[in-house]
Amino acid sequence: MLVAGNWKMHGLRADLGEVTMISMAAEKAGEVDVALCLPACLIDRAVGASPGFSIGAQDVHPEPSGAHTGEHSVAMLKDAGAALTIVGHSERRQSCGQSDADIAARARAALEGGLDVILCVGESLDVREAGNAVATVSGQLAASLPENADPAHLSIAYEPIWAIGTGKVAGPDEISEMHAALRSQLASSIGEEGAKSVRILYGGSVNGDNAADIFAIDNVDGALVGGASLTAAKFVPIIQAASGRSV
Ligand code: PGA
Repeated sequence: MLVAGNWKMHGLRADLGEVTMISMAAEKAGEVDVALCLPACLIDRAVGASPGFSIGAQDVHPEPSGAHTGEHSVAMLKDAGAALTIVGHSERRQSCGQSDADIAARARAALEGGLDVILCVGESLDVREAGNAVATVSGQLAASLPENADPAHLSIAYEPIWAIGTGKVAGPDEISEMHAALRSQLASSIGEEGAKSVRILYGGSVNGDNAADIFAIDNVDGALVGGASLTAAKFVPIIQAASGRSV
């Protein structure tokens, strides 16, 4: 299980106490891996405040350096202490016009440079209502997965866009159908063995009340959590649900 928080554009130095409290819960979470993907300007300080805890970024540029205003390279994120990065989040796909090919390049650069990757895919409400969710999201994964991706360092996050930040969670059948389709897409892209070790996370309005039910669904290997990862009070119950005990 991997429970990863995505702080998006939230968080100041004054909030690092939350990171510390979350890292303390993570230490007691047994087999569950916990990570927080923070705004890039907080990574260095968060790593300093919570040594040993997995801090990540929210995107990474495929090039090692150059004229790319506003972007961060793998080396920069690693230098700041990041251990992982999200790529292909729907908010980046939409606001920055990132294509699947661009996302594959970002994921490839991160994996080759030694950052673990959470690669996000997910459909819009229109696509779901038209009955095309599984085909669309499987296609997104096929096109945004880099060749030769190391399964040990890769997670996929299924995040239906209509469930992000809306309080609407995909139903158990929708999650189970999509995660099974993603597992089978992974098997055709990287082989059966590799596909088994890639963690497939669900994301979209996960909270302390619904996490246990979501984690009980087949092929759900964790969660990518936005709003409910901003405070220890909200995030720790999700970690507890993943570990099946008090932490
Ligand atoms: P949410 O965000 O948990 O606030 O819905 C999830 C995400 O966008 O990663």
